[in-house]
Parts: sequence; structure tokens; C-alpha cells
Amino acid sequence: MNRMAETLTVHLAERSYPIHFAVELNSELRAEMEALSRSDRKAVVVTDDNVAAHQDVRLRQWSSESPVLVLPPGEGTKSLESLGRVLDFLAGQGLDRTSFLVAFGGGVIGDLAGFAAASYLRGIDYFQVPTTLLAMVDSSVGGKTGINLKAGKNLAGAFHQPRGVFIATELLATLPAREFTAGMAEVIKYGLLGDAELFGRLERSPLTSASPDLPAVIRRCCELKARIVEADERERAPEDGRALLNLGHTFGHAIEQVTGYRRYLHGEAVAIGLAAAARLSMRLGDLEAADVVRVESVLAAHALPVRLIEPLPLVGLLAAMTRDKKVRAGLPRFVVLARLGGAVTREGIAVAAVESAWRDVGAV
Ligand SMILES: NC(=O)c1ccc[n+]([C@@H]2O[C@H](COP(=O)([O-])OP(=O)(O)OC[C@H]3O[C@@H](n4cnc5c(N)ncnc54)[C@H](O)[C@@H]3O)[C@@H](O)[C@H]2O)c1
Ligand SMILES: [Zn+2]
Repeated sequence: MNRMAETLTVHLAERSYPIHFAVELNSELRAEMEALSRSDRKAVVVTDDNVAAHQDVRLRQWSSESPVLVLPPGEGTKSLESLGRVLDFLAGQGLDRTSFLVAFGGGVIGDLAGFAAASYLRGIDYFQVPTTLLAMVDSSVGGKTGINLKAGKNLAGAFHQPRGVFIATELLATLPAREFTAGMAEVIKYGLLGDAELFGRLERSPLTSASPDLPAVIRRCCELKARIVEADERERAPEDGRALLNLGHTFGHAIEQVTGYRRYLHGEAVAIGLAAAARLSMRLGDLEAADVVRVESVLAAHALPVRLIEPLPLVGLLAAMTRDKKVRAGLPRFVVLARLGGAVTREGIAVAAVESAWRDVGAV
């Protein structure tokens, strides 16, 4: 199957890199690891307990020579303390400027290990080998790395592009169903923000881990993300640009924050956020009621929530929104849908419209 492997390039001048797509992980990654070690570059792997346990055979197949740091799973690992552990590990293994790191895991490991690679010796190379659907379609591409602080999520980090990304869909076989479903929220997001055809594909029948076109869909998401990142790597565009990737996230982050990051997986909060963004777009006159129904139907068909599971207070959600670091100068800058398959950023949206969208998804 590996002969089917394909490559997509993220074009960022000297920071350009390939994303390799295959069903099976081994051959490209092993070839890359061998080529690098022939040139005497040392490598270490960072992963978490779940990935190490479920994918130990795969891990040993390509990492046999490399020391592996296994961290506890979960969002709590994206911490200053774990960053210290990774950095001490790199130093302890005697890594130098020519060495590189491989992040083998979901977004937590990718963000943390990527940040360690960005800061160790002021920056060493790293590769992303994503093992969750979310990491395959989103976090492994684009070079945003970071950790959480006590004050909030992703508050410390760096832009540090990987040298390559290896996406192998076979790794998803051991991913818990709820995690796959959560990743689907990001896939649906891509359809909504930039690809009506992808959205139509998801409308026709739900995508599952067994869908024959899963690799093609993942590839399409990476393509959409790559094009957006190429145009606005550091999210500095005054409008649209990389911020479009936050569709549904201003609402979603507020839900996560108000519920202490325990009640919902990120993708689940984003699903409700997408429904809220669609409602807001309707309130602004951009979407028809029938479009909102289509958005909610696709989310629901993928077993994602479209309303808060328990009502949350509007006041707290609005306060969380204005604390979100993506919000500029206190005024919420929203990503709304101009149509299904096309998103735009909008500033200065009336609070009343946002409140109505929140009520539509079950805030009180
Ligand atoms: N850098 C970015 O651009 C970006 C984009 C989106 C999200 N993120 C970040 O990504 C993180 C979420 O990532 P995630 O959803 O991948 O979560 P995660 O890394 O916590 O993985 C989810 C769970 O699945 C387990 N797991 C991973 N792969 C597995 C496999 N193949 N088999 C069995 N179990 C497996 C993990 O141990 C974990 O328990 C958040 O911290 C978020 O902020 C970053
Ligand atoms: Zn997200």
C-alpha cells in the first residue's frame, strides 16, 4: 500500500516541508530516519503512554535506534513542567544543533515536542508523526507549537515549522471512537470554511475510520490548511488569512474554558461552536435557515453535538470570549460563513447577535 504514498508540499521559502500521506507508516519514515542517522544526526522520539502502548510495534519499527521519552497522556502534559522534562531529556541525550526530534502522538505531543524543538539550542529540527485525526488534519501542519499556562490555553509557544509530516491512516485503528469523532469537527470545519465539495461529501454519508476515502479527505484538509498557512504563516493578515482556521473556535474555546476543559473534548466544543457560528452568520443575513440545518445535520450525522449538553450561563461564555487571546483589542473578531464553503472574518459584530447565537445553542 505504501506505493500509494503521496506528498504535498507546504511552501514557506526556506521553511518549506513535505507532508507524506500513506496508509502504512513505515517505509518513508524509516528511510528518512535512516538517511538522517547515516549523516550522524541523533534523533529522539517524544510520545505518550497511550500511543506507546497501542503503537509499540510501529514505534519500534522505525525508531529502534532512538531514545524514546514517554509522557503521560492528556492536555495536562502541555505544561511548563513537561516542557522542562522534554528539554532535560534532549540535553541528557546529548543532542546538538544537528539533532532532531520526532513527535509521535496527537496534538498534545505535537504542540509540546514542537515547542521543545523550537527552544532547545534556540531551535532544532523536528518531524511530526500524528496519531489522532485532529493532529493529522490540523495540529501537525502549520508550525504552531506551545503549551498551556495556569492563566490559559496555548499562552506560551513559538512558530516553528516541522521539517516533515508523516501521515499514516493505519495509526487511527487504535484511536478511541470519541477521539475520532472529535477530530471530525475539524474536518467539517475545513469543508465549511473553504471547500463546498468536501462539505458535500460529508453530507452524502458520514466519514468513518473505515471509509475508503478517509486518506483523501485528510489530504484535502491538509491542502486547505497548507494554502492558508502559506498565505499568512503568522496570522497577521488584517482580515481573513490564518484566522479563518478559527471558525467555530471563538465559541468553542469559551465552552472549553467555562467547563474547565473537562466536559467536552476540543472537537466537541468546536462542533457546538460551528453550529453557533452558523447561527450567527444567519443572524447577520449571510446564511439561510436551510443552510444552518445543513450544518447541524452534518455535525449530528457524525455524532457531534450541536447544542450545549447542559445549559451554560451566557454571561460566563461572553466573558470567556473576550479573554480569548485571538480576540483583538477586546472587540470580538469573528469568523463567520459567507456561504457553506466560504468563511470571512468580521469585526464589530453587535453583542446582541452573538448573544442570540449563544442562546440558539442552549446558553441561558
Ligand atoms: N498546533 C496547532 O495548530 C493545533 C491545532 C489544533 C489543536 N491543537 C492542540 O492539539 C491538542 C489536542 O490534540 P488531540 O485531539 O490530538 O489530543 P491528544 O494528543 O490528547 O490525543 C487524544 C487522546 O488519544 C490518545 N491517542 C493518540 N493517538 C492514539 C492512537 N493512535 N491510538 C490510541 N490512542 C491514541 C492520546 O493518548 C490521548 O489520550 C490540544 O492541546 C490543542 O490545543 C494544536
Ligand atoms: Zn481546533
